[in-house]
Amino acid sequence: MIASIDQIQVHRAAGALGGFVSGVSLADVASSDGHYRRVRDLLVQHEVLFFRDQEQAPSVFAAFAKTFGDVLGHPAYSTVGEAPDVQILESTPENPSKIEVWHSDMTFMQCPPSFTLLQGQIIPEVGGDTLWASATAAYDALSPQMRAFLTPLKAVNDFRHGFRESLAERGGAERLAPAIAENPPVEHPLIRTHPETGRKGIYANALFTTHIVGLPSKESDALLTFLYQHIVTVEHTVRLSWQPGTVAIWDNRSTQHKPVNDFFPQHRLMHRVTLTGDQPV
Ligand SMILES: [Fe+2]
Repeated sequence: MIASIDQIQVHRAAGALGGFVSGVSLADVASSDGHYRRVRDLLVQHEVLFFRDQEQAPSVFAAFAKTFGDVLGHPAYSTVGEAPDVQILESTPENPSKIEVWHSDMTFMQCPPSFTLLQGQIIPEVGGDTLWASATAAYDALSPQMRAFLTPLKAVNDFRHGFRESLAERGGAERLAPAIAENPPVEHPLIRTHPETGRKGIYANALFTTHIVGLPSKESDALLTFLYQHIVTVEHTVRLSWQPGTVAIWDNRSTQHKPVNDFFPQHRLMHRVTLTGDQPV
């Protein structure tokens, strides 16, 4: 029995972005177009949504994800046996998480992902939160002069920049060679317009963006350093403490995120689905 759409509620999580959604399950959204449309509206509006107590099977998590778009694989992660659309993100004492910096997912692609979803599986007793920042709130907070300067610029994004530590490991270059061949560096607009809301956002991230096209490297480095700090100003962020069964879905077109790697040597395991997106404009 599906709960009524009217029972779906959202509580804003922070000033700039984020909403906790209640009154709906992953299965409800996967099976009802009306529930899906309501949740998608909330997602685009709040930029990241959180659902508690959704300890549902990987197949249900994947079905929920696929209502929002087509699944995109990732060249560097393994997947769940019975649900191959679901990737495994695992951090253990022997193999701790390598992603430390703020980023938007896979911006090294010509058409980077629209949405990413995570479902908490094994959650550390302490730590392991995730932060998100609103790139649209950050854009809105810039002066008109700075917006005008940034708007015509483009920036290069490169897979090799994001995976340079993995590439430096023994065997890393051979393992990642196919991914590198498939993902040459790409140019994206530095200021991106969201295709659904029309809001503008800063579209450069410390993980994958290498430089701004046409600027000397000193100016490019200084400007990117400023933008990265500006985007993640505390007032532009929201922070989630995970529980087993917590699901987050976020809009990569308007946000960046950062895992907080403060839980070593505890074990953390998440399930993830990433969805295809359009070419940024
Ligand atoms: Fe990510």
